[in-house]
Amino acid sequence: MTSQRIIQLVKEMTLEEKAAQLLQLAATFYEDGDGQITGPMESLGIGEMEVNNAGSVLGISEPEKIIQIQQAYLAKNRHGIPLLFMADIIHGFKTIFPIPLAMGSSWDLELAERSAEVAAKETAVSGVHVTFAPMADLVRDPRWGRVMESTGEDPYLNALFAGAMVRGFQGEDLTHEIERVAACVKHFAAYGLAEGGRDYNTVDLSERSLREYYLPAYKAALEEGCEMVMTSFNTIDSIPASGNRKLMRDLLRGEWGFDGVLISDWAAIGEMIPHGVAEDEREAALKAITAGVDIEMMTPTYVHHIPQLVSEGRVDEALVDEAVTRILELKEKLGLFDNPLRGADPEAAREVVYCDEHRRIAQELAAKSCVLLKNEGVLPLRREQKVAVIGPFAQSGDILGSWSWAGSQETALQLGAAMQKLASSDLITLAEGSDIISVSKQQLQQAEAAAQEADVIVLALGEASEMSGEASSRSNIQLPEAQLELIQAMKRLGKPIAVVLFNGRPLDLHGVIDQVDAVLEAWFPGSEGGAAVADLLYGVVNPSGKLTMSFPYTVGQIPVYYNHYNTGRPKPAEDTDEQYVSKYLDIPNAPLLPFGYGLSYTTFEYSSLELSSEVMTPEETIKVSVQIRNTGKVKGIETVQLYVRDISGEVVRPMRELKGFRKVELAPGEAARVVFELGEEQLRYYHSDLSFTSDAGKFEVFVGPNSRDTLQVGFRLNK
Ligand code: GLC
Repeated sequence: MTSQRIIQLVKEMTLEEKAAQLLQLAATFYEDGDGQITGPMESLGIGEMEVNNAGSVLGISEPEKIIQIQQAYLAKNRHGIPLLFMADIIHGFKTIFPIPLAMGSSWDLELAERSAEVAAKETAVSGVHVTFAPMADLVRDPRWGRVMESTGEDPYLNALFAGAMVRGFQGEDLTHEIERVAACVKHFAAYGLAEGGRDYNTVDLSERSLREYYLPAYKAALEEGCEMVMTSFNTIDSIPASGNRKLMRDLLRGEWGFDGVLISDWAAIGEMIPHGVAEDEREAALKAITAGVDIEMMTPTYVHHIPQLVSEGRVDEALVDEAVTRILELKEKLGLFDNPLRGADPEAAREVVYCDEHRRIAQELAAKSCVLLKNEGVLPLRREQKVAVIGPFAQSGDILGSWSWAGSQETALQLGAAMQKLASSDLITLAEGSDIISVSKQQLQQAEAAAQEADVIVLALGEASEMSGEASSRSNIQLPEAQLELIQAMKRLGKPIAVVLFNGRPLDLHGVIDQVDAVLEAWFPGSEGGAAVADLLYGVVNPSGKLTMSFPYTVGQIPVYYNHYNTGRPKPAEDTDEQYVSKYLDIPNAPLLPFGYGLSYTTFEYSSLELSSEVMTPEETIKVSVQIRNTGKVKGIETVQLYVRDISGEVVRPMRELKGFRKVELAPGEAARVVFELGEEQLRYYHSDLSFTSDAGKFEVFVGPNSRDTLQVGFRLNK
């Protein structure tokens, strides 16, 4: 119910002031030390009026500056409407958590929610009100640099993580909780399907697939009360999302009933011109406001053209009032009318931001996000071993990953230093060995010297953080040649080698995993990542991460994902000599490492998969239980995964779909029976007419440590 205050404000605002309320400007327009409003106005074709009446600003993180700007702004705003401060707090504010693709590999929803809570606390006390997170784009193409921002290739898991992040950011009630921030789920929709894995590229898919795979995570965020949605840069059904009425007005606002604030991505409204669906800014503005986009981020089409479009009768002023009202309601919900500075508190920020407790949580999540990909008797290291830590990440703070702009590489604990802290520094030698993309003879010689006395070599390798993230697509997803050369040079020493990878995407691991004894995937583990990885290497923590995105055999295999269809000519086995089946002549069909894959320092045995019944009606549920035993020598956490396959649908159905998982911790020799409950609603899917229902028929259930190595049993759904 809109408050009288807002109804009155909208009544009193001029059309120009309303249009300005829909504008979001970058920090540069407001930052110059004494809070006076300056900035590159001419480049955007706007003036003092627009800057003094813009509704929101993005990208400022210092509380002192935010306080100054808000006070200066309010002194000039005729209606006393406060600015809304927004920022990209994707995986932490100053305490940087593992990148979302790493966090997803933890399969730990509670810890993910806590990471968002911590990020919200540090963000709110710094004066920011909204974060442009969670990013809920499903991803299947590791050439795309923004896979690092996603939790992976599964719609069910992505939806759980998106909901957990919204709960952590927003809590129960934004009005009373100044330690929380409003969340903005993005990028609506299906940005992760950019053709060729090339950022901003065309996205084209059926509405059925859109609903089945790409929409669930956004919807889950909204069901948790996510306050905002951000449009995506890409086309959907050949129409750019920011001008796509069917997607925004009909589906998001109509069918889903979303009445929160819809913001464009950066310049995405103006970009409808190069997309080729708007001849000029005026047409772009018309299409965007008609589609229901409330805030225009960093292009001036609304302030330039909305007043005239309304006065010409091309746009109903009610549409503009609706957009303004939604923005003012968000400001009211955040308590900004009564307290425009909300949580901004420089003193408190010095206490809260990057405090020990926050860093402890970040270290715990980082340790749980790393995935042990291979281990042939080398890990865990023993404290008394002489270890040479070699590679561009041996002594690097570049372990925060993309979208960590409020964090600092300088304070990140580097792997080498962390290992010297854990073992004793005279047992650990460090050498760069190579740069990220180049290697010199001298670097190799220094590396060989450092490894001379070592019992074991740890190679710290990977991508520079700017090789993933926005506008960072790669056509070749191998480690850079220089690092492959370093591996070969170290291999010639004939010592055990463990590789730790710091990267923002699944890589083609040829020349790595086939060349060394152990591989630990650390992703970009965040500000506490060095300590977390050191704990894992020495067995202080037993690795428990599981991949949420397949590692392709090679880039030529992309897209490769676990929940694929069978085709009419499935390849019967990798070594088949059948010619006319769906296969490559030169590589296997299977990915190098499947969804859900991850090793431990112990081993787990799965046995006696049982169903409480072999038939089910929609009114009943089936209990699925499996015995799991720790058959190794150390305690470990295993993520037991439940998959289902619908043998025959009205449309083709995936070979497997994740329907549940349980994390169990078992001591050596300890066993447990893990029980899942399956109901008819988990068997529903989008039919060709877009109805979301289940079909009677045969189903297979798979349970195991990943999407490939599973026990299997069948049941029927009778209707
Ligand atoms: C960027 C990104 C988006 C981000 C926005 C503001 O282009 O696509 O994820 O939130 O601009 O920085």
